[in-house]
Amino acid sequence: MPVVRGKDIEVLFSASAIARRNLELAKEIAARDYHDLLVVSVLKGSFIFAADLIRAMHDAGLSPEVEFIFISSYGAGTASGDVKVLRDIDNEVGGRDVLLIDDILESGKTLKFTRELMLSRGARSVSIAVLLDKRMRRQTTLNADYVGFDCPDFFVVGYGMDVAHAFRELPFVGLVRGDTPGTARR
Ligand code: IMP
Ligand code: MG
Repeated sequence: MPVVRGKDIEVLFSASAIARRNLELAKEIAARDYHDLLVVSVLKGSFIFAADLIRAMHDAGLSPEVEFIFISSYGAGTASGDVKVLRDIDNEVGGRDVLLIDDILESGKTLKFTRELMLSRGARSVSIAVLLDKRMRRQTTLNADYVGFDCPDFFVVGYGMDVAHAFRELPFVGLVRGDTPGTARR
């Protein structure tokens, strides 16, 4: 078991399993009839997944434009009204097919807000790709079009995801050992 910053990290999804899954997701995305694809990576947590997925999309024959939106994070139990844009995209989305990429779909509040923002700006379509789905935590009716893996109810780190700004650099998704389901929150 890897030890990082003095903590035992249990590997949940290995780097090679994620790489294989990214290729499958890219093929699924390429099979859809997108006209003018604009990828929007939801920062910060999605940066590694988005970097890998867009390269897999290239291998699958797609040539999307890529943008970034910085959405504020919030603690558990915070109302959806607290979701806000800290740094917006530069591109026009009117008439375009937007693919939102995020690390985890949990309550769905972050992506529901972002999806509605893109639709209000006239996006032709808005699809959602997430590496991990914590369905048991959903508080909205939102679902993703492309899901890497169903995620157990642990607070996970690595592959872009952090706890208190640490562990984003891990090439795999893991959990800090000693945490029990549903108790380890931001
Ligand atoms: P939602 O709005 O509740 O769906 O929140 C999803 C966001 O919360 C994700 O984009 C992550 O940034 C963050 N998040 C949720 N669960 C975890 C986790 O287990 N580890 C790290 N970040 C998480
Ligand atoms: Mg996030």
